[in-house]
Amino acid sequence: MIGSPRVHHRLTDSTNERAKALAAAGALHGTLVTADEQTAGRGRQGRDWTAPPRSSVLMSLVLRELDEFLPLAAAVAVCDALPVEARVKWPNDVWIERRKVAGILVEGRPQDGWAVLGIGLNVTTDSFPAELADRATSLRLAGVDVSPEGVLGDLVRSLDHWLCAPFETVLAAWRRRDALKGERVRWSDGEGIADGIDDSGALLVETGDGRVTLEAGEVHLRR
Ligand code: BTN
Repeated sequence: MIGSPRVHHRLTDSTNERAKALAAAGALHGTLVTADEQTAGRGRQGRDWTAPPRSSVLMSLVLRELDEFLPLAAAVAVCDALPVEARVKWPNDVWIERRKVAGILVEGRPQDGWAVLGIGLNVTTDSFPAELADRATSLRLAGVDVSPEGVLGDLVRSLDHWLCAPFETVLAAWRRRDALKGERVRWSDGEGIADGIDDSGALLVETGDGRVTLEAGEVHLRR
């Protein structure tokens, strides 16, 4: 089972950085790094990831069994571990009622046979900085009374299941939880109606000029 051995930090720079250092030093598949607080938490697209101390699950897993569907499987696993209805916003944000409750950052060195799966899940956070206030949520704000340590166990069990699931099963589960399907979305140089993902995980969007396939990046809901 993944999640063992576990290294817990009261304070660290970034659990992804700690897990990458452990992976480079030969840590086993499934090694888990957690923290109460990060001083340099990182998100996708070069953004920071911040969270008040002990308010969140801040975790990174060392993985040595690599698979291109890892980010999709991880998003499904997070949804499945939560005691409330959660959906995936392409590619792998987790939303509750159209607000982000969790983010996923996969960093890897496939040439060295490892990847690090980092997950930040807002658990007891009850307020967010002004710029996130209408886009972020936490389990507490969604009415769930649980501690970060309490949800971590469910999350690790769910990851243990979903990271080994066949890719057809992962794709089907992801599609059932697609938060964008049928929604108008925009990205850096276009907009249209999201129409699910193809079998490689790319986002399909119907635009006035035809169907566009987005392999990577980020889209936003037209609210
Ligand atoms: C995103 O931008 O949505 C991804 C956020 C990932 C944040 C987590 S918190 C634990 C791990 N350590 C990091 O520095 N980042 C990830």
